[in-house]
Amino acid sequence: MARIHKLPVSVVNRIAAGEVVERPASAVKELLENALDASPSRVDVSLEQGGIALVRVVDDGGGIEADDLPLAVTAHATSKLRVAEDLEHIETLGFRGEALASIGEVARLVIRSRTPHGTGASLTVDGGRAGEVMPEGCGVGTTVEVHQLFGNVPARRAFLRAPQTEWSHSSEAFVRTALAHPGVAMSLSHNGRRIHDLAAVTAWRDRIGGLFGASLGGRLIEITADDGEISLRGLVGRPEDDMAGTRLQHLFVAGRPFRDRSILHAVQEGYRGLLLSGRQPIVFLSFDMPTDMVDVNVHPAKMEVRFREPARLYRLVLSAIRTAFLQHDMGTSLKAPESPAFAPWFGQPQKQTPSPAPFAPQRPAPLWEQAEQAPSDVSAAHVPDAVAVNGGHRPVEWDVERAVQMHNRYIVVECGDGIEVIDQHALHERVLYERLKASVADGHLEVQPLLIPERVELEAAELELITEHAEALEQAGMRVEPFGGSTVIVTSKPVLAGNAPAAEIVREVLDRLSAVAAVGDAAMLVDEVLHGLACRAAIKAGDPLSREEVDALVRDRRMVRESHHCPHGRPTSLVLSRQDLDRQFRRI
Ligand SMILES: Nc1ncnc2c1ncn2[C@@H]1O[C@H](COP(=O)(O)OP(=O)(O)OP(=O)(O)O)[C@@H](O)[C@H]1O
Ligand SMILES: [Mg+2]
Repeated sequence: MARIHKLPVSVVNRIAAGEVVERPASAVKELLENALDASPSRVDVSLEQGGIALVRVVDDGGGIEADDLPLAVTAHATSKLRVAEDLEHIETLGFRGEALASIGEVARLVIRSRTPHGTGASLTVDGGRAGEVMPEGCGVGTTVEVHQLFGNVPARRAFLRAPQTEWSHSSEAFVRTALAHPGVAMSLSHNGRRIHDLAAVTAWRDRIGGLFGASLGGRLIEITADDGEISLRGLVGRPEDDMAGTRLQHLFVAGRPFRDRSILHAVQEGYRGLLLSGRQPIVFLSFDMPTDMVDVNVHPAKMEVRFREPARLYRLVLSAIRTAFLQHDMGTSLKAPESPAFAPWFGQPQKQTPSPAPFAPQRPAPLWEQAEQAPSDVSAAHVPDAVAVNGGHRPVEWDVERAVQMHNRYIVVECGDGIEVIDQHALHERVLYERLKASVADGHLEVQPLLIPERVELEAAELELITEHAEALEQAGMRVEPFGGSTVIVTSKPVLAGNAPAAEIVREVLDRLSAVAAVGDAAMLVDEVLHGLACRAAIKAGDPLSREEVDALVRDRRMVRESHHCPHGRPTSLVLSRQDLDRQFRRI
């Protein structure tokens, strides 16, 4: 490994300054990054008391020369950067020459290291005071220990949380880094217990499986995209494997975890219409791009990065997710129900033994979700592989004649092997959306000019948005024209929109456009308008339907490809299979 030197002041001044060590998890992250920069084949992490009492990271990488040990713990000394220009092409995880010095200030830091051709040596720093370099019999590589973080700074120690909380932050730091480096064998132990033991793997899916259970790893869908300079590869969850929180949303650029709200927004957009509101998808995304397209020197703890062209990443993510879902026909799996009453019919493995209770408890959350609810140091090794997530969708044949509307909101119909309960609004919305989309695609969208144009009052910003996207609206059959001040008039709308008031449609469309306007993708904008139209034009829950209307809706359903969720992601129907009913009534 290159020798360590002090950085010139001109370079130091250009490095994002701020607090490096906030809690034990920061030490875990920094020491892991140092280990990984030394090209190891394995790295072992041990923690005591969540990392408060001890963080130990052992690697078998290139090591530090004995003479360089004092420099390693000196502020602004690094082997990874020389001149200011290097800041534009950072390829290592570290570059500030800051981490060990900062940790040495607030803890007792012990380093033992040996390079392949040197002799082993150790150095201790306690509360900022470095001792002597001592000879040490050790193998090639480096061991760094951080004892009693903030032990000498009571004011900061007081801000540490309970060991269990610090543990969850520390293990999260390990997980993020381990996800970014599947090719290195890694382990994590806590209070003497082995929590993760990860073999070096070539497939990212296997590393994810190693951390969160093979059942999750196996279910993820692969996505890729490349625009010539920026490439994206990712593994994303099926919509039905959604979660309550964002614990399984991970972003990486060139082996570096980072946070980014805009990219996560693109993810949400990619899943739009497939998730129930408030639920989060599982995503692991890794970007690669020339080093001058991303600035990693923007956050003192290196948690964030800045992209030269963020809109490109947004587009890449959105299109990669949508393309993957089209290929995987995400409409074919039914959402497990929220209501316990439906639990017996859903989310059960096909070959299940009859349940003793007439109303079995609600399906257990998938294990990766259970972990989210109760963070603990349960080893991935204890996670069983087979997790029942979804009962799956069975093809159904309807007996249209016997479809009945109930409570002015549901339609119940006999289907091939059971009974189907349809949500009339959700299904109609989906049907309308699919029809609108198909008509736009084949250029045969029927448009009705309005004899009396409908006026809509807008705010200035709304007027600007609607004017800017007049073309997308027009492609979707909505002609909106300025009418002086911030008023517009709607002079035409698609025939399929029926009697839905234009003002309602325009409001709905505005909401949707504002979410995706930044992307500027023409097809997506039209799609948003169509979603808005379908939402407002669909029959509502509470609308009484005639016999003909019920039949028409049930019949229409056969014609649309994607009918299992409304465009908002709510299921359009639930199937109670005859077999499940028989089981519940103890016939089998
Ligand atoms: N595990 C290790 N193996 C080999 N060398 C190491 C290891 N840990 C630290 N070093 C050496 O010590 C130097 C100082 O490490 P330190 O983490 O303080 O700074 P850095 O990694 O250069 O930058 P940053 O502050 O961004 O992490 C590194 O540049 C590297 O040369
Ligand atoms: Mg470092």
